[in-house]
Amino acid sequence: MLKRKDLLGLIDISAEEITEILDLAQEFKNRIKRGEKKMNHLDGKTVTILFYENSTRTRTSFEQAAKYLGATAINIEASTSSVAKGETLVDTGKTLDAQRNDFIVMRHPMGGAPYLLAKTVKAGVLNAGDGINEHPTQALLDMLTMREVYGSLKGLKVAILGDIKHSRVAKSNLFGLKKMGAEVAMYAPQTLIPKGMDQLGAKICKSRQEALDGADVVMGLRIQLERQEAGNFPSLGEYAANYGVNEELLSLAKPNAIVLHPGPVNRGVELTSGVIDHERSHIEDQVLSGVAVRMAALTLMNEARRGN
Ligand code: CP
Repeated sequence: MLKRKDLLGLIDISAEEITEILDLAQEFKNRIKRGEKKMNHLDGKTVTILFYENSTRTRTSFEQAAKYLGATAINIEASTSSVAKGETLVDTGKTLDAQRNDFIVMRHPMGGAPYLLAKTVKAGVLNAGDGINEHPTQALLDMLTMREVYGSLKGLKVAILGDIKHSRVAKSNLFGLKKMGAEVAMYAPQTLIPKGMDQLGAKICKSRQEALDGADVVMGLRIQLERQEAGNFPSLGEYAANYGVNEELLSLAKPNAIVLHPGPVNRGVELTSGVIDHERSHIEDQVLSGVAVRMAALTLMNEARRGN
């Protein structure tokens, strides 16, 4: 059972907890597909969404998840809050706690920030991406999308190509997928693969071909231009030509392999438009999985708070 006040990362979550979230998320996804958008699992609860970084998918899907479950959702933009006047994260957390918020969903550019907030507040904290550390609900929605296609994650080969160094999505997927029995193959320029990924269980490949060969899932990751130091690769054009995935390379994966990308996508850089819009692309389906996974995480954390 998910008995957690907070959901901060997949590094310390068990396969059983992941399965519990995915099972419930699948139920929610089926209900949303049937047009159900009014549920009462979080009736009377408040979910505050506190983002110190830009977002489209994560922020809106947490808001939708909270509202579909009957909660009140409140959005705070750091740029228009008292953070802009110098308020610390801890003081912001104390303020939100004093208002009796039940859950705080936070995205922050500093790795570890949600851990600090979680220690400070009584509210349950959900990490919506902290720097280059983790993005747990993104990896959970990726796993839900894969599991819906394949029935199980065990034994799948997941090829992850792109900016692994700056990717919180890559780390959360690695932690989660390894626990669920999948193989994770990674490929990027050496400058975009952090040391130690192999020790965490990733297979570091020497070529795109090696990573894609026999893959069940091809996951592209965005080149994070906003976090890039100079010198990681010569130019976006050369990155695309030497490290990106096009339809010819995609054909090295299994015939029914699916294409994933957490978004936002740099079209024509990590993936060509032909791959992004391919009939086997599940990129839009990932977005719906995101609403369902966030509904499941909030519901299970709420039950844990009630002691169920
Ligand atoms: N995948 C993801 O985190 O997207 P956003 O930055 O749009 O939330």
